[in-house]
Amino acid sequence: MAHSSLVLDPRFSLADVDRRLFGSFVEHMGRCVYTGIFEPDHPTADESGFRGDVLELVRELGPTLVRYPGGNFVSSYRWEDGVGPVEERPQRLDLAWRALEPNTFGLNEFMAWAGVAGVEPMMAINLGTRGVAEACDLVEYSNHPGGTYLSDLRRSHGVKDPHDIKLWCLGNELDGPWQVGQKTAHEYGRLAAEAGKAMRLVDPSIELVAVGSSHSGMATFASWEATVLEHTYGVVDYISLHTYYEQHDDDVESFLATATDMDMFIDAVIATADHVGARLRQRKKLRLAFDEWNVWYQQRFVGVRNLDWQYARPLIEDNFTVVDAVVVGSYLISLLNHADRVAIACQAQLVNIIAPILTEPGGVAWRQTIFYPFAQAARFARGRVLRPLIESSSYPTARFGEVPMLHATATYDDETGELSLFAVNRSTTETLPLTADVRGFGALQVADHSVLADDDLQARNTADQPDRVVPRRGSGARLTDGELTVGLPPASWNVLRLTPAPAG
Ligand code: AHR
Repeated sequence: MAHSSLVLDPRFSLADVDRRLFGSFVEHMGRCVYTGIFEPDHPTADESGFRGDVLELVRELGPTLVRYPGGNFVSSYRWEDGVGPVEERPQRLDLAWRALEPNTFGLNEFMAWAGVAGVEPMMAINLGTRGVAEACDLVEYSNHPGGTYLSDLRRSHGVKDPHDIKLWCLGNELDGPWQVGQKTAHEYGRLAAEAGKAMRLVDPSIELVAVGSSHSGMATFASWEATVLEHTYGVVDYISLHTYYEQHDDDVESFLATATDMDMFIDAVIATADHVGARLRQRKKLRLAFDEWNVWYQQRFVGVRNLDWQYARPLIEDNFTVVDAVVVGSYLISLLNHADRVAIACQAQLVNIIAPILTEPGGVAWRQTIFYPFAQAARFARGRVLRPLIESSSYPTARFGEVPMLHATATYDDETGELSLFAVNRSTTETLPLTADVRGFGALQVADHSVLADDDLQARNTADQPDRVVPRRGSGARLTDGELTVGLPPASWNVLRLTPAPAG
């Protein structure tokens, strides 16, 4: 009989929950911007052209940070095309996605959207086809108060106060042969170091992210990070990680265990960064920006070479299943379990492109299955991430060997006294009994047990059935004398919230 247990104690904590772990990503790609967040003709659009129905869903989803404008797109982007009077902006070829870019949405539109969406911007610069001067120009245009050509240009574009953008990505995936302006680690490392140094001269308050490997399967993985950090360690604050997973054939068991690969990836980047830090006699520890992660069925993507020049063409609009949502929950658990080193994470992307939110042009917007684990983690993972002591039955997988059925993390909010437990049962066949020792927290009560699971692991939400898959109230969670017992349904994402019990 399967079983699992965990011990939680407020004295054993890993790190504070950095709210930047709940980031997302908006790229000029497919329909993420155009007919995604921005559609001036849409019935719900405001005077800026921002879709109101999408904004409402974004607020419910609760991202804290949004990376922009790419992605592959940024590596041949000229930021100047997207500012100033709209009627004077050029239409360009977007080489990354073989699309037509009208530039009717640009930096100032994004910053206005970020303001109404209540998210922090994470701005990427083009280090594919451009360099130090353009990077400095963008920081000056964005962050300098006034009295210079570029800051006054911004003011003349109707933006009086500086945007004060703190977080900057020094390019995107420049190790990848698909990238416009691909570089060797040495070439990129030197360029990133000089660009970062100069950007800091424009605004010393900014934080910088160096580009790590596009994924851990790259032939240059780890040596890329080592070389890049040899050049940039003293300049940057973060190194980036990207990864996408998908189910292969019918192997749902391995797919449900892919967070073990994410854990190994994170641990390998930490080890590499610390090795370089030690070699360079650096006291500072780099933190990690996992600024692209998600499920993405890349086998279904037609490939960039098969695209022709179109505006806002539907691209990689994967319609996610129940099992995809459970796996996304597992990635959030992995990120929280590395909160001592992973400070930033962005689910890629926010709308339409492998996204928690789907839209129809001129029509409805709805929540995908993967919307729910993100929204719940962003809302309830507060305070400190605890170090749980976990025991669990395991199950066999073709790709990762024996893997624990239980994948879990917990957060404790000292202010409210709320203990939140996030748990995935990876077994597709068995309900997993869980016992949690929570005696160290004093008297608690079960405030809620939310479960996302379904007899049909392939169930999805669609425009016609937008609420086919939603989290439901779980049954049978009991808390007696500091011991929580609950059954986790097969292939499920669970959120258990324990709050202080009323006195008496
Ligand atoms: O998110 C989609 C694409 O995936 C991004 O443009 C790129 O950075 C990554 O390869």
